[in-house]
Amino acid sequence: LRRGGLTTDLAGRHVVVSAGGTREPLDPVRFLGNRSSGKQGYALAATAAARGARVTLVSANAELPDPAGVDVVHVSTALQLREAALKAVADADAVVMAAAVADFRPAEYVTGKIKKVDGVDPAPVALVRNPDILAEISADRARPGQLVVGFAAETDDVLANGRAKLARKGCDLLVVNEVGERKGFGSDLNEAVVLGADGTETAVPVGPKEALADVVWDLVAARLA
Ligand code: CTP
Ligand code: CA
Repeated sequence: LRRGGLTTDLAGRHVVVSAGGTREPLDPVRFLGNRSSGKQGYALAATAAARGARVTLVSANAELPDPAGVDVVHVSTALQLREAALKAVADADAVVMAAAVADFRPAEYVTGKIKKVDGVDPAPVALVRNPDILAEISADRARPGQLVVGFAAETDDVLANGRAKLARKGCDLLVVNEVGERKGFGSDLNEAVVLGADGTETAVPVGPKEALADVVWDLVAARLA
């Protein structure tokens, strides 16, 4: 639906987007984190709202202003992101997991600041696996026909790793980007290939994160129709 240059093809739809990167606390002052800025997820939320969707953005530690007209749920850890995402997807038409979710968290949270002791080596940090939120949402669709989209940043064998990951996660679309100097983490630019479980492959040239977001919503809207 295009009216006066505005696309409202997501009107009446509820979409959920996760963004940012989780932080897994070790003690009150330290965490394990990653370099995700949240810009791609925020661009997805803003463009979906502009196309008429009701948008829930589950944001993990992104230092960005809340996009206008979007319900933002702020979380920090992977377990908190999982809880907020599972709640939000219950009535969602589409889910896009753009957040960088930590694969591991410290096995133990130390309630007081860990202190160094002269002459004593630091204890190794034991880690445990976090749940795979994307795989879980894909496996237990809260609604028939709910569309699930994942993201993957790869450094090598981008397409082969992407295809394998798409199959492993069980999602409908996987946005695969090659992380490099000028694109990906922290940058305003991104370049990607969107792989479909139906065998489709959509290349998106280097450009603003909003442009990639619009391609993702084009593919989602076509599959929801
Ligand atoms: N993801 C998730 N829960 C996790 C880890 C990842 O929901 N515990 C989601 C991410 O939000 C992303 C997708 O899964 O949409 C792919 O993340 P990625 O880290 O590339 O995949 P992994 O399966 O963790 O594989 P790898 O070992 O390459 O990190
Ligand atoms: Ca991972």
